[in-house]
Amino acid sequence: MTTTPVLPGLFIVRHPLVQHKLTILRDRRTPTKIFKELVDEIAMLMAYEATSDLALEPVEIETPLERMTGRRVSGKKLTLVPILRAGLGMVEGILKLVPSARVGHIGLYRDHETLEPVDYYFKIPADAGERDFLLLDPMLATGGSAIAAINSLKKAGAVRIRFLCLVASPLGVERVRAAHPDVPILCAALDRELNERGYILPGLGDAGDRLFGTR
Ligand code: PRP
Ligand code: URA
Repeated sequence: MTTTPVLPGLFIVRHPLVQHKLTILRDRRTPTKIFKELVDEIAMLMAYEATSDLALEPVEIETPLERMTGRRVSGKKLTLVPILRAGLGMVEGILKLVPSARVGHIGLYRDHETLEPVDYYFKIPADAGERDFLLLDPMLATGGSAIAAINSLKKAGAVRIRFLCLVASPLGVERVRAAHPDVPILCAALDRELNERGYILPGLGDAGDRLFGTR
């Protein structure tokens, strides 16, 4: 990453466009259609930062005028892994930047009583050990979902994982960093705290419900 971490392993994307769009996203009056478009756009802008140090390799090409050595991203295709449901909202925006990326899926939801993650689906490409993974979820609250998702990715052989979220809580960051110190976290904002129901304050509410209009 080209930005400096604010804490070890925590990067905040402070680009003005990201911050502007995030503020509209947080606004309770923002309707589902705009919410969806904003998640898509912010994810794309954040992915630009998250991919800033992908490995390159030389490649010989011919321009209309002469031969030259260009550079292209090397290695196996980047793999996006949204945590269902809300992570799905981040996929299309990133695919606009990296259209050849592969897409895995991790199905998890938070039990409303215990706030513990319950997993129901897992599918990622083979050769996990040779790929770069971007794990996607707009919200990092207690950290339970992110930790469970990273556990599953590692169990399947993944070693190079980055976690992209829009809004993080201090507790979530602390827990993910403690459980997986090798996984950098990129967010657009580090918010104040969680409320008694595990929602981020000030936050943006329930990301999945606002994305899919299921409140
Ligand atoms: C939300 C969110 C994260 C999780 C974060 O999902 O999208 O996955 O909560 O909370 P945590 O850090 O405390 O685990 P939710 O469980 O509401 O499922 P949904 O996306 O299907 O609505
Ligand atoms: N999940 C959400 O969607 N929002 C929060 O604030 C916390 C968890």
